Formats: sequence, C-alpha cells, structure tokens
Amino acid sequence: MISRQDVARAFSQAAGQYDAYALIQQRLATRLLASLPAGSPEQVLDLGCGTGYCLPSLQQHYPCAHINALDIAPGMLAFAAERYGDQFTWLCADAEQTPLADNSMDLVFSNLAVQWCASFSAMLAEIKRILRPGGQFIFTTLAEGTLAELRQAWAEVDDTIHVHSFPTEQVLVMQARDSGLRLNDVQCFDDIAWYQDVRALSDSLKRVGAHNMQHQHGGLGGRARLKAWMQAMESFRTPAGLPARYRVVQFQLEKVSG
Ligand SMILES: C[S@@+](CC[C@H](N)C(=O)[O-])C[C@H]1O[C@@H](n2cnc3c(N)ncnc32)[C@H](O)[C@@H]1O
Repeated sequence: MISRQDVARAFSQAAGQYDAYALIQQRLATRLLASLPAGSPEQVLDLGCGTGYCLPSLQQHYPCAHINALDIAPGMLAFAAERYGDQFTWLCADAEQTPLADNSMDLVFSNLAVQWCASFSAMLAEIKRILRPGGQFIFTTLAEGTLAELRQAWAEVDDTIHVHSFPTEQVLVMQARDSGLRLNDVQCFDDIAWYQDVRALSDSLKRVGAHNMQHQHGGLGGRARLKAWMQAMESFRTPAGLPARYRVVQFQLEKVSG
C-alpha cells in the first residue's frame, strides 16, 4: 500500500508542471463536469482538487455556491491558492478524514483523486458523514485495467510489482452499494493517452505525480531490465503510438437519509 506521505509528496512535487501534462485528467474532468446535477447547492467540495483545474467550472455552474477545495498535498494546494486566492476555502486534509462538519456539504465532486486513498470504503463513509441528506457525490476513479499495457510489459521482464494495482470495477461498485449512499449512476469506460515513445509516456506519468506510485518495489531495476521493458512495450504500439490506458469508473451517489 502507498503511504499518505508518499502520495502527498509525489503530488506536491508535481504541482508546478501538472497542468501541462494532465491532458487525460482534464478530458475526464470536462466529462465529469458535464454530468453535474441541476440545482443550487450552497456548499460544494472539490475532493482532491489538485491545481484547482475544476474550481472555476464548479463556480460557474453553481454561481451562488461556496466552493471548498481539499487536497492531501500541500504543494498542490499552495499552487492552487496562489492562482485563485481567497475566493475558495482551502483545506489540506485526507479525503478519509476531513475537518468538515457532519451534514455540511450539498455536493461533493472529485476527479481522479480517490484512487489514491488508502481505503475506498473509509473515504465513502467520510463523504456520507459530511453530505447533507439529499446531497450528491459525483466522482471518477480508476479500476483494474489502468496502465494494463505497462503492467503486462513488466510481467515479461520480471515478477516485481512495478505498476500500482487498482481494484476491479465490480469491487468498487460493490463497496459503493455497501456504503449506505444510494447508487444513482455508474459508468465504466477506457480512456487512452498515446505517446510517441516509452520515455515520453514515463515522463508524463512522472509529471502528473503518478510516477512514484508506478514503481513500488525495486525501482526501475537496472538498465538491462528497463531496456527489456521498453522493448516489450513496443508490442503495444499502434499508428497512434504507445498507450497509457485509464480504466475509469464514474459514479453518482446520493445520501438519501441521515
Ligand atoms: C490526479 S490529481 C487530480 C487533481 C484534480 N482533481 C484534477 O482533476 O485535475 C489527484 C489529486 O488527489 C490528491 N489526493 C490523493 N490522495 C488524496 C487523499 N487521500 N485525500 C485528498 N486528496 C488526495 C492528490 O494530492 C492530487 O492533487
């Protein structure tokens, strides 16, 4: 398991260059923002707000709402706060243990953040606690199949774990159903970023903070193994380039009772 400190450090280090490389994250954010529910929530939370990419859109969609932005990485929050100032409330905290009061949020929004939580169930319990009855939680997360080609290429080289493991979509859906929140909608789909070569792919993961989580044990494992991995990756090349696959699960949950 990845420690909270490692997650916070990796994303803090990535803050300065994150937006320039987070094209897939932005594409998925646009899709998630297009699914925002109608209504006029008073208190909105962006959980794992990163550099604050989604905040202006959230405010535009809900002009009367107060937007709270939470992230575990101080470097991300500092970057976002520098950019947007005090129009939003900044909270440095773990999504599994927020400083927010019971029944205080009308809408919780989160794009590609909760896959880094230590426990998906504990995070859902926390969101259930802070949502008002009738409040909604709309978010994307990642499931098994994410970076499948990288994992497969490494499997041809050694039996060390190099790529972070993600739960299956069935497990995620089951845990969402067990959370006590009502499952209004779930969509599972692949999104793929294409790269001209392995270096560009690895570099891009590093720039969005996912690199440290990619190689969990044993580092890159020497030049020969890295070369073997690069060769194995070539078997996945298409005319579009080499794939970094994201298996995305988009949820819409609702708190129906206290
Ligand atoms: C891939 S970025 C996405 C940022 C933003 N939501 C976007 O769409 O651009 C993931 C963010 O989640 C944050 N994060 C990861 N684990 C977290 C946790 N347990 N609690 C709060 N934030 C977390 C990271 O620090 C990072 O800023």
